[in-house]
Amino acid sequence: MTKSEGLSAILQAVMRNSANVAKDKYYPRWHLAPITGLLNDPNGFCFDGKYYHLFYQWAPLSCEHKNKCWGHWRSKDLITWQHQPIALLPDEFYDKDGCYSGSAVINQGQLTLCYTGNVKFQDGTRTAWQCLAVENKQGGFDKLGPVLGLPEGYSGHVRDPKIWRYNDKWYMVLGAQTLDKQGKVLLYRASHLYQWQLIGELAGSHLGGLGDAGYMWECPDLFELNEHFILLACPQGIKKEQQRFLNSHPSAYLIGGFDYSTLQFQHGDLIELDAGFEFYAPQTTQVDGRRLLFGWMGVPDGEEMYQPTIANGWIHQMTCPRELQIREGQLYQQPVKELQQLRQNAQYWQGIADDAPDINEFSFELEIALFGSLEIYFSDTLVLIIKNNQAELKRRSVKNGEWQSRFWSGDIKHLQILCDNSSVEIFFNGGAGVMSSRFFPSEKQTVCFLGKDTIKLTTWQLKNALVS
Ligand code: FRU
Repeated sequence: MTKSEGLSAILQAVMRNSANVAKDKYYPRWHLAPITGLLNDPNGFCFDGKYYHLFYQWAPLSCEHKNKCWGHWRSKDLITWQHQPIALLPDEFYDKDGCYSGSAVINQGQLTLCYTGNVKFQDGTRTAWQCLAVENKQGGFDKLGPVLGLPEGYSGHVRDPKIWRYNDKWYMVLGAQTLDKQGKVLLYRASHLYQWQLIGELAGSHLGGLGDAGYMWECPDLFELNEHFILLACPQGIKKEQQRFLNSHPSAYLIGGFDYSTLQFQHGDLIELDAGFEFYAPQTTQVDGRRLLFGWMGVPDGEEMYQPTIANGWIHQMTCPRELQIREGQLYQQPVKELQQLRQNAQYWQGIADDAPDINEFSFELEIALFGSLEIYFSDTLVLIIKNNQAELKRRSVKNGEWQSRFWSGDIKHLQILCDNSSVEIFFNGGAGVMSSRFFPSEKQTVCFLGKDTIKLTTWQLKNALVS
């Protein structure tokens, strides 16, 4: 499509759908979601000194993975966001089948995007270009075109550049697939953003002691945190275990050490980043010493196309913004402290779980100190069961109504739960484990507690956070 055809079709789609999302009881009150069409990965998450920017994979013309554009929001406080002009449309020969995921940096004072131009051929193959675009005076982006083609020895599945600066050089990690279908993360380095040198494979299947670890690694992100290095990635095709990696595609991380002089990454085993039903393609940025993360509260190729919001012309949402930390060698994720500004009407209660008052809210936060087992029922669609050093989250399939389960193991003493109209984010023991899931309660939501052990409960209603 040409840019003007694209913009006019998108404008019409937005005008048509705004009434539908306004009346949809599942449309979030304080999470980011698309006005129309499909949202997937967070892209270009950064801070320019004044505003946080969050771009997103957006298919504005239908609830399908087609015509991927970059939408754009910005915020001063990580709570209220403003729509910005659409940043990228797939209107050039080098990105005609999608402006795929990527990142943003401030280069010489200019907000600069690095994204994947996806190009599909009639025989089913594809190629990928890593491309740049810079912000213009109108708040839109001018494309500068491709700066990197496919490396030799890899298929057309090479995408999702995450770039950062260290000392006087730029670095990039890229998701990739070898010609014999092994998933890898490639590392590049550059003196300026237009000329990249391939350093080699940083991590992936059959590397660093991992064994067979999937056919494609998407959305890598490498960063330093409290003297450790973390590589986030989405390794597609890894084996499902009894209690881990149960989604159609997982989001995982490696923790270890990276040495800028040898450019080698030593790491341990793959660890699931979020054990819930919907979490994928997270991206981080560093602001004032904090490492912040947004994830997509969705997963590709699972049951997404059965979600009920499609009837109202939109699908998927982001997670809440989170802060990452390492304590005693372990990664923790917690909702950013700014979100506490949404809290209102605190209620405290303590006693046997069976006697705890029900909650009749759609948008609320809970903090629970636990002294044993506990079950929490979210209407008739989602149940959290905590017993025997394990959490089991059960949900009815949106496809066939059958119960499905996800697990997190640990001696659970504390829960923080954030609930929006159709999503829940559960943080165990201060964020040592997380489960993010969508769920679609019926007309009236009742959350109730079951158990013979004591709980200490704090409940807040959460205010709406407007996107304007
Ligand atoms: C992950 C992903 C990325 C790709 C984008 C396309 O969800 O498949 O690898 O760039 O989505 O929308």
